[in-house]
Amino acid sequence: MSGYKGVMASRSSYPAEGNTPAEFVPMHADHLAFLASDGWAEMLQADLLPWLSANGDLGDDVLEIGPGPGRTTDLLRERAAHVTALELDRSLADALAARLTESNVDVVHGDGTDTGLEANRFSSVTCFHMLHHMPTTELQDRLFTEVCRVLRPGGSFLVADALDQDGVRTRHQEEGETFVPLDPVTIQDRLHRAGFAEAAIDLGEYQLLLRAHKGPRS
Ligand SMILES: C[S@@+](CC[C@H](N)C(=O)[O-])C[C@H]1O[C@@H](n2cnc3c(N)ncnc32)[C@H](O)[C@@H]1O
Repeated sequence: MSGYKGVMASRSSYPAEGNTPAEFVPMHADHLAFLASDGWAEMLQADLLPWLSANGDLGDDVLEIGPGPGRTTDLLRERAAHVTALELDRSLADALAARLTESNVDVVHGDGTDTGLEANRFSSVTCFHMLHHMPTTELQDRLFTEVCRVLRPGGSFLVADALDQDGVRTRHQEEGETFVPLDPVTIQDRLHRAGFAEAAIDLGEYQLLLRAHKGPRS
């Protein structure tokens, strides 16, 4: 089935959740325009796709968390039989669903920390340039635990995220966006604590690339 499953709207819980210290901050319009651009799609082809391909098959059922305007979704939908794209921002979810009607992508409005999706379902889960938009490391850790829950045993968690570089941090601050980058020193321990069996890290020019596997009995 393709199209927008609006039934997931009520799962967008974390912006309103009790003790959450910071609210979800929507993306700035200029940043969104960049993420929708052909320039970003070319960077993904050059800097993400070779790593993605080198990490093997995505399998038949992929969950993408935080698709935004969906240029990363476009990469995935050409390489997997089915993609579920889970997006917290309702207007972005609506726009992506409208663009990808009749495709192999289901767009779901929801929260990566509490997806409501079936346990042990997905062959791969991806988070491309979205984790640093989460307000706290605690919420990132909650998302890691949720990813491990919905992955099949042996399934892959694939992450690309911004390194903590001055220019990137300043740009996010100037645009009033959240910037909580992953620490390359601690990220593998955090993934192990969330239930992943192994995690490998590559550092690129501007991004950190991570591949973790769910073990057979996680
Ligand atoms: C910087 S954009 C990245 C978009 C796309 N993956 C790309 O690389 O072009 C981050 C996206 O993650 C979404 N997001 C942030 N927190 C989320 C969460 N907890 N669950 C699902 N989506 C989330 C934001 O709304 C935004 O659309």
